[in-house]
Amino acid sequence: METLKKELEKLSEERLLSMIHLAHLPKHVAIIMDGNGRWAAQRHLPRIAGHREGILAVQEVVTAAREVGIEYLTLYAFSNENWNRPTMEVSQLMRLLGFYLKKELDSLMENKVRLVAIGQIDRLPKPVIRLLQTVEEKTRHNRGMTLVLALSYSGRADLINAVRRVVDAVQKKTILLKDLSEETFSDYLHTQAIPDPDLMIRTSGEIRISNFFLWQLAYTELYFTKTLWPDFRRKALLMALLDYQNRERRFGQVAPKKGVKPKVLHPENFHFRDQKRGV
Ligand code: IPE
Ligand code: IPE
Ligand code: MG
Repeated sequence: METLKKELEKLSEERLLSMIHLAHLPKHVAIIMDGNGRWAAQRHLPRIAGHREGILAVQEVVTAAREVGIEYLTLYAFSNENWNRPTMEVSQLMRLLGFYLKKELDSLMENKVRLVAIGQIDRLPKPVIRLLQTVEEKTRHNRGMTLVLALSYSGRADLINAVRRVVDAVQKKTILLKDLSEETFSDYLHTQAIPDPDLMIRTSGEIRISNFFLWQLAYTELYFTKTLWPDFRRKALLMALLDYQNRERRFGQVAPKKGVKPKVLHPENFHFRDQKRGV
């Protein structure tokens, strides 16, 4: 895989884009955006400078995902555990979030992107909650792509909250315990109307989940890259998508018959120039 990555890195973004097989795109890509602090430290800058640069990466990745035709993009922007960071960093992050939401509304509308926030939203500062509500309301009819922002999110808290809601529904007899299945349980999670991710990307070289989607990642393809989040731009996303397309998803079954297997990914094997893009 490393040699493939090196090969792909040499190619232009347009070439990479033309190599992506539109019929096999992941429907839902989820990203743990990590490494802002280290990006700043490498430049002897305060951590907030890394978060600011991280917003530029967010803008570029959202646009690129929309352009390629990804239907759902989840960005893990702030975890429940992140509340334990120094007060100063937390308030700077909240300010940046507010700034991003104000600044992005026009572009989300233009690109027909619907914004959905998940997590313990009530823990966020009031002005940020109001801004989120405004952006969610204004973008709710957009059908180009759904951008899910995981804010004050915790996978375990999501599960506990779902269990509480199920117990409540059982007590109120709106659901019978015998009817509880994997599908019905999913309806009680924050990601209720969102399909499970097909591809999960984590930047910055850490190989862990950090309390992100615990239930939802059951069969997700995982992609870890050493690239720090502020450096994860359009080309990096295209490379992750190509890596995904070179995998064989089995869902616990046996490998598909010969000939159905995806072609081994090599730049020379690609001839997808005639594909239509739905943007
Ligand atoms: C990710 O970057 C942003 C958030 C978690 C809010 P970090 O701030 O975790 O950056 P590192 O991991 O310290 O480099
Ligand atoms: C994960 O990054 C959370 C987000 C990106 C929002 P962290 O930097 O908080 O995770 P750990 O502490 O390295 O596990
Ligand atoms: Mg981190």
